[in-house]
Order: sequence, then C-alpha cells, then structure tokens
Amino acid sequence: MTTTAVTHIASLVTNDPSLGNGTPLGLIQDAAVVIEGDRIVWTGESSKAPATDNVLDAAGRAVIPGFVDSHSHLVFAGDRTQEFNARMSGQPYTAGGIRTTVAATRQASDEQLSDNVARYLAEALRQGTTTLETKSGYGLTVEDEARALRIASRHTDEVTYLGAHVVSPDYADDPAGYVDLVTGPMLDACAPHARWIDVFCERGAFDGDQARAILTAGRAKGLVPRIHANQLTYGPGVQLAVELDAASADHCTHLTDADVDALGQGGTVATLLPGAEFSTRATWPDARRLLDAGATVALSTDCNPGSSFTSSMPFCIALAVRDMGMTPDEALWSATAGGAAALRRTDIGRITPGARADLVLLDAPSHVHLAYRPGVPLVSAVWRGGERVE
Ligand code: NIG
Ligand code: FE
Repeated sequence: MTTTAVTHIASLVTNDPSLGNGTPLGLIQDAAVVIEGDRIVWTGESSKAPATDNVLDAAGRAVIPGFVDSHSHLVFAGDRTQEFNARMSGQPYTAGGIRTTVAATRQASDEQLSDNVARYLAEALRQGTTTLETKSGYGLTVEDEARALRIASRHTDEVTYLGAHVVSPDYADDPAGYVDLVTGPMLDACAPHARWIDVFCERGAFDGDQARAILTAGRAKGLVPRIHANQLTYGPGVQLAVELDAASADHCTHLTDADVDALGQGGTVATLLPGAEFSTRATWPDARRLLDAGATVALSTDCNPGSSFTSSMPFCIALAVRDMGMTPDEALWSATAGGAAALRRTDIGRITPGARADLVLLDAPSHVHLAYRPGVPLVSAVWRGGERVE
C-alpha cells in the first residue's frame, strides 16, 4: 500500500488527549502525519517521520482532522430566498416554511434530488467536511421519505429518518394519524435505509409524548434516536433525549438549568447549530454554560434551505467563538471530535494511528485562524480516507 507523509506541519490537531500536553486537542508542533491506504499510521515530530513513498511539505501550515458535520437536511428541492428576505425585514422564523420545501421536494425527480445532495456535499468537502450526516423530512409520505433516504444513502453512511419533521399537510386535521403513519408503515419503509431516527420536538411540530412514541418505535426497528430539541422554545426535548440515551440533542437554544444539568451528566451530546440562530436572528445557544456543566458539545451546520443555508463548518466555528462563549480550541474540538461523538464514531474526528485518514491542510499556521480570520477560505487541501479530494 502506498504511504504518504505530510511533513513540517506548524501545528497538528490530533484530538488525542493522551498526548497530555494540556489540551484535548492533543497539539503537536512541527509535526508530521503518515497515511497508509485509507488510515493514519503515524504521527509525531516531523524530524522523526519514517520514510514514505510520497512526501508533501506543509511548509509551516496547520493540519486538523476533517470536520464532522453531524446535522444537515440536504435532500430537498427549491429555495426559500423570499422567506429569508422577509425574516431579515423583521418576520419571525416559525418553521412553517418547511411545507414550502416539502411541496418542491415531492415534485422533484430522484435525479434532481440526488444532484442537489451531491452539490452541497461537494461544497462542504471544499470547506473541509469529510463526514456528513443528512436527513429525510421534506417528503412526509411513505414513498417520499423512503425515497429521500435511498438517495441520501448514495452519498453518505450517516442517514437519518425524520418523517417526524412536521405533521404532513395531508394529515393537518389528524396529527395522531400522522404519528401512526410515522411509527408504522413509514418506519417499515424507511428503517432499512437509515441508521438514525430524529423528531422535531417543538410547539407546532411534535410534543414530548409524540416524540417519545416515535423514537421508541424507531429504536425497536434498530434505529438510534437523536432529537431536534429546544430550538424555538423551552420544552421537553432535551430531557427526553437524555431519558432515551439519544446520541444527540440538537439546537439546545432554550435550556433550563435542569436541561443543562441533564446534558452535563448524561451521555447525550449537545449539538449546537449556530447557522440556524444566524439565519433566523435568534438568541445564541450558550455553549459556555453547557461546557462548564460538563456536557459534550458538537458544532454542526444544520444545512437546510429554511433556517440555515450554510454548508460551512469554518463559519459555524467563527460564530461559536464570537457569540457562544467558546474558545477557538473548544470550537475546533466540537466541529471534529464532538461531531464524531454525536455520531458515536471513534474512527473519525481525530488524527491518531488507526483512524480514517481525513485531514485538512489550512492556509494558516494554526486552527485558531478559522475564527480569527472569519469568512476567509483557509482550506488548502483535503484528504478523505487517505485520498486527496481537494
Ligand atoms: O433544524 N427545526 C426543524 N428543522 C430545520 C429547519 C427546516 C426548515 O426550516 O426547512 C432546523 O432548523
Ligand atoms: Fe435541523
């Protein structure tokens, strides 16, 4: 198998806390990384790197793990520019626009939807995202949800069934009937194509009891729960996530002290989505409060045409540092190792021997520049599974 070394890395983020250099980022200065096939096989000081077939001189730039974006909604068609414009003129975000995207998505061909996913995945990859979760949720019929998941599976292994995004307009007068559909025939059709099950637990979407029924039914079919929780209002989502040992509670914008304590003590990751607060002009989630309580925090884009139309993890890092009380080190960890934790993966989000060779070379001497130089395209090269993809 071919071996490649990236040498003379000014600052290497390994996310290996066992390096014991005082930060969970496991930083190594003047470092090298060796890749063999699709794996990392060696990290250490550049001067001690073993001989390899190929060498790339990083020339004093930084290398970080590929970003793990553990929350996106890429299977959609259409555009909600008008809704965004209205919001920026003072209209509130209500999630009612989801129905606009549902109508456009149902009308689109498989090929259009698949091309769309590929387009945003490529956009994310150019910005350093090497693993991306994506969801259904803009179909809301048995056929359209199963189709969305089949299409998503062509592009990523991290696929989430979100039939419970909102009550389908076809069931506007019968929300209980829609929950029966989501937990019955729709689940049967969707479970073979997904790893995760998600619910939008929010006023106007699904309440705590409905969310519990949906996630429990999914779990019985082998899907692992994650929840859209506490985005627009306080509510039962976070407590339910911890109760069900969900992999992640996502958004976490409105949290009581009890919610923060539950996330601090439980095994559920708090996934914060600053693109959504940016694009809806909402209150920022308080990452500092969660971190101080001991919670594991992930950062993700929530890329979708309504509440957060960004595929950029560097943008989310900059927002989290500027407005959510995170240090640049914490934000980088959350966008890599934190995302991996939210997807219950140990093979990604780190640069350690045995991990998948997902690396980003930055046009900067350290990862801090991702927040220090917001909006600047600093991603210079990307490897995914050992292959240079950008
Ligand atoms: O995560 N909150 C629910 N779902 C998406 C929004 C989807 C939309 O507005 O189209 C979210 O923000
Ligand atoms: Fe979302």
